[in-house]
Amino acid sequence: MFRFLTAGESHGPGLSVLIDGLPAGLDISEDDIKVDLERRQKGFGRGGRMKIEKDHAVIKSGIRHGVSLGSPISLWIENLDHENWKEAMSPYPVNNSVDKKEFTKTVPGHADFAGALKYKQHDLRNVLERASARETTARVAAGAICKIFLLKFGIDIKSRVISIGKIESNDENIDNVDWTLTETSEVRTTSPDLEKKFIDAILKSKKERTTIGGTFQVIAFNLPVGLGSFSQWDRKLDGKIAQAMMSINAVKGVEIGNGFKNTKKAGRDVHDVIVPDKKDKRNFKHLTNHAGGLEGGVTNGEPIIVNVAIKPIATMTNPLPSVDINTGEIVEAQYNRSDICQVPPACVIGEAMLAIILTDVILEKFGGDHIDEIISNVSNYTNTHNEFGGK
Ligand SMILES: Cc1cc2nc3c(=O)[nH]c(=O)nc-3n(C[C@H](O)[C@H](O)[C@H](O)COP(=O)(O)O)c2cc1C
Repeated sequence: MFRFLTAGESHGPGLSVLIDGLPAGLDISEDDIKVDLERRQKGFGRGGRMKIEKDHAVIKSGIRHGVSLGSPISLWIENLDHENWKEAMSPYPVNNSVDKKEFTKTVPGHADFAGALKYKQHDLRNVLERASARETTARVAAGAICKIFLLKFGIDIKSRVISIGKIESNDENIDNVDWTLTETSEVRTTSPDLEKKFIDAILKSKKERTTIGGTFQVIAFNLPVGLGSFSQWDRKLDGKIAQAMMSINAVKGVEIGNGFKNTKKAGRDVHDVIVPDKKDKRNFKHLTNHAGGLEGGVTNGEPIIVNVAIKPIATMTNPLPSVDINTGEIVEAQYNRSDICQVPPACVIGEAMLAIILTDVILEKFGGDHIDEIISNVSNYTNTHNEFGGK
């Protein structure tokens, strides 16, 4: 069984990651993880925090001489900003004279109002510290390790920003994309003509002292047919992916393939026609991919395409009216140092979540304690596809 857990507060000493259930025999280095941690830190519209952090995951267990042992992998990511919060976020009791950086003015759209009542906290920092998207750094580290596992099967995950505010890319092509563009673009777009428009939209929001959301796309290529299952509701891969994406902070919508656009079309313009294709072991392919690679909650061999909607950030330099959680007085919402637009880094978090879910379903279907065993299980399975579609 594959599992992963994270721990850590935004301004606490750091983040812990525990990944359980990965096989032995995978080459894993801190440098491999660092690539994605750095990608997550980038993006036009980020606040001052990212200038302080230099995220690096230290491997603490589960790997010996650079190779996984099949035992739980644990990682530690230090929060460099903790230096400025040593007493305020100390895990140990502190003197009453210490500035605990408490706050009580709720932020509409953040987790602090509901969290304060739920966990009986009169200092909203006790909610915000864990609800913060700093936690997604730990997910990206876990996802980077899962990507190493997935690459053993040729599975590759990409992502890009589709829209920021009202500015939207209409490029639906996924086959001939120059994915290096996303790595050089500050807004992770594959449409160079949109780069400036996205940046201008973010700058305009900053000037207007508000924030801006958008949508991004995550795609997984080279998947075998048959991951996930329709046999029970909680084994459906589309459902698992939707939950994983929805769990990313500020994500409010998930679409598989052309889920929403398809509702406006006739059935015959929506469904992906299956044709013989002798070029690969599956012997079949689909002429289009409106379904986003999933039918019946199962991969159909086409790329998985997930579109994700992320709301504008709740914390704003021109705050909304709100309430003080302790006095009930009407106040202005708290402002804490914040991002203006988080859509570009959210792409990298989306990649991590898709990598984690695909790792889970591959291990579920193909099991095995050493990577060689799993590779051989996958190969035995895909060879059975030769029985279909004639010779
Ligand atoms: C990469 C990333 C960065 C974020 N940065 C901030 C931020 O600086 N300020 C903020 O208020 N919310 C930020 N958020 C969103 C909040 O974490 C989120 O809105 C909050 O936890 C409430 O949860 P919900 O929006 O999922 O309901 C960020 C989200 C992501 C994905």
